[in-house]
Amino acid sequence: MLPLMEASPFLKLISLSLLLAWYPPVMAVLPSLEEQAGALLAWKANHQSQPAQLQSWEKNIWPCSWHGISCSNHTQAGHQLEFPVITGISLWGSGLTGELDNLNFSALASLTSIKLAHNQIRGSFPSALASSLPNLRHLMLQENELSGEIPKQIGQLESLVGLNLSANRLSGPIPSELGSLKKLLVGPIPINLGNATKLTILYLDGNQLSGHLPRELATR
Ligand SMILES: *[C@@H]1O[C@H](CO)[C@@H](O)[C@H](O)[C@H]1NC(C)=O
Ligand SMILES: *[C@@H]1O[C@H](CO)[C@@H](O)[C@H](O)[C@H]1NC(C)=O
Ligand SMILES: *[C@@H]1O[C@H](CO)[C@@H](O)[C@H](O)[C@H]1NC(C)=O
Ligand SMILES: *[C@@H]1O[C@H](CO)[C@@H](O)[C@H](O)[C@H]1NC(C)=O
Repeated sequence: MLPLMEASPFLKLISLSLLLAWYPPVMAVLPSLEEQAGALLAWKANHQSQPAQLQSWEKNIWPCSWHGISCSNHTQAGHQLEFPVITGISLWGSGLTGELDNLNFSALASLTSIKLAHNQIRGSFPSALASSLPNLRHLMLQENELSGEIPKQIGQLESLVGLNLSANRLSGPIPSELGSLKKLLVGPIPINLGNATKLTILYLDGNQLSGHLPRELATR
């Protein structure tokens, strides 16, 4: 590095800003754990009757120990510090009746897994879910009461390997944007490719969806 740059704190500040500007926006500005937990607490408050399974979701309890919540340590590029982020929500058959529309997904960009199967979650499949979670690998929402169309933003879930939307009340066309999900593979039964741990599934049955699977998926 140039001695000039080392000498000038102003230039250091500029190079730090450039470094941050270079980094993908989602990773550069992950909300704090407090903000992430706040989004979940607001969603809990939106439930008409409070599900017993969410009892541990309390402001004065460490969110990584809440029932159904998992965390990982995240290291910000260029920093030594690692800090916990919420990476998973797993509440199978927990009597949840809320709407996903009331969950602030932009506060939860670190999520890699949402497993909320066998509940009574209603309302639409929010486009914000699809557009805010570039790290999401598993989205399991089967056996709920989701209605309306699958948003075309689903093509933005670029890390998705497993998707199960079976047995909901979804309708409308199957979005062609599903075809841009390069990691998502399709099969009538789960496929284990090349014996990799990557078990990749797409399940859409039990809805009123129309149209064909995107060609890119059909040929995989
Ligand atoms: C994060 O790192 C701390 C300190 O190294 C460790 O105690 C903690 O268990 C880690 N948490 C997770 C979720 O891995
Ligand atoms: C959602 O979360 C983001 C990031 O923490 C925050 O900036 C925004 O204000 C929140 N939106 C609502 C409606 O609370
Ligand atoms: C997807 O959900 C349906 C309906 O519950 C179930 O029959 C199917 O086994 C699920 N598939 C996977 C791979 O989880
Ligand atoms: C996967 O495992 C099966 C059974 O263990 C084996 O027959 C097959 O050759 C393996 N395939 C690859 C690509 O390693």
